[in-house]
Amino acid sequence: MNEKKKGSNFSGQLGFVLAAAGSAVGVGNLWRFPYLAAKDGGGLFLIIYLILVLTFGFTLLTSDIAIGRKTKKSAIYAYTEMNKKFKFLGILTFFVPVLIMTYYAVIGGWITRYAVVYFTGEAKAAAADDFFVSFITSPVAPVIYGLLFMFVTTVIIYKGVEGGIERISRWLMPVLLVMIVVIAVFSLTITHKDADGTVRTGLQGLLVYLKPDLTGLTPGRFLQILLDAMSQIFFSLSVSMGIMITYGSYVKPDVNLGKSINQIEIFDTLVAFLAGMMIIPAVFAFTGTEGMSAGPSLMFVSLPKVFQAMGTPGIFVGAVFFLMAIFATLTSCISVLEAIVANIMAIFHADRKKVTLIMGAVYLIATAVIALGYSIFYVEVKLPNGSTGQLLDIMDYISNSFMMPFISMISTILIGWIVGPKWIIDEMESTGDKFRRKYVYIVMIKYVAPIMMFILFLQSTGILGM
Ligand code: PHE
Repeated sequence: MNEKKKGSNFSGQLGFVLAAAGSAVGVGNLWRFPYLAAKDGGGLFLIIYLILVLTFGFTLLTSDIAIGRKTKKSAIYAYTEMNKKFKFLGILTFFVPVLIMTYYAVIGGWITRYAVVYFTGEAKAAAADDFFVSFITSPVAPVIYGLLFMFVTTVIIYKGVEGGIERISRWLMPVLLVMIVVIAVFSLTITHKDADGTVRTGLQGLLVYLKPDLTGLTPGRFLQILLDAMSQIFFSLSVSMGIMITYGSYVKPDVNLGKSINQIEIFDTLVAFLAGMMIIPAVFAFTGTEGMSAGPSLMFVSLPKVFQAMGTPGIFVGAVFFLMAIFATLTSCISVLEAIVANIMAIFHADRKKVTLIMGAVYLIATAVIALGYSIFYVEVKLPNGSTGQLLDIMDYISNSFMMPFISMISTILIGWIVGPKWIIDEMESTGDKFRRKYVYIVMIKYVAPIMMFILFLQSTGILGM
């Protein structure tokens, strides 16, 4: 019954690892991790993050991937297969990529616009104060770039798992790694002299990044750092949105899951670490400790100014940076569309090409609408966590702050207490390999993860005022 067509699985371990790493490595690694590291005590954050990746992140990623391979189903039916009463969890999970997809190509479009700016020698314009705002509030350019990005994503998904997703990830991920290493090394060589004569170097910036800063470390602040690291980890590993379940369902039975999961985690964490090494020293050298912002304003406002301050090399660095960011975003974007397409193929027993064409069309429209959320469809909404946002932020809030921690919490309870961790462990050991960190997994899935997800859910929904 589960006979699949040729090419509808990953060819082997490497193809799977690079595709999953492609999903994991995205804008979160580039614009959120460095910001959190700078804000949360540098090396202190790094240590906490590392410990949590190896325990908490590892547990969530293992669960998703093992569920996928064991049930051979995408999220919407995978949970039902585990327990009939958890059908709602599959349905809930189905909606996460559905929401994320409405805006991910919009961000991809913004990044593409910046890459074009650097490649066509307009770098100076990008450093101007109002460049970003005037770009996104235009009713034309962001739509065109968003549609372009969405179109490319659709083409890749149309070509299938092995011929599309795996093929592109095998190219883009290694190249991305090389690019980010090159920029990170360059960042360390920077020396900058301010107008008032103060000299700051990239190496001093590196120290700011790596040295654990314990000043003002109260229990409350420690909890905050813990929650920052946790929410970053599970967004960064693309868990609790059905994506890793879907990718897991394409992994052949002879692939060693434990090893693959380690490699995915290493890849994702390494890129996040390198992103910090690339951004923090550069921002520090040119602007001191004040210049670190998060999210779009780091990538589209602060960094262009830093590139501008570098002079001629900055044009090249900027071009490489935004090209690299396109790769990171594209491989994440395709994983989101794949999760949607896989679910819909399963619901309607329809074939990939037809579903991809229809969903591609639907999301071209959605992308245009969200891209116009800063001009024609401008709204300003106060979100429960206290921030205000436009259409894009609303979608982001519902999926990432609200649904994902909730789904995570319920699925850890399902595994830990209802089907039991052995259900997962058996799958991990089905190839005859030993499941290392088995006991870490059991303790995490039963006790630690559900409680942590509950606290995170309270915090991100604003119930726990922090
Ligand atoms: N994991 C990606 C990142 O760290 C983000 C992502 C979100 C990927 C949603 C897929 C789906 O940026």
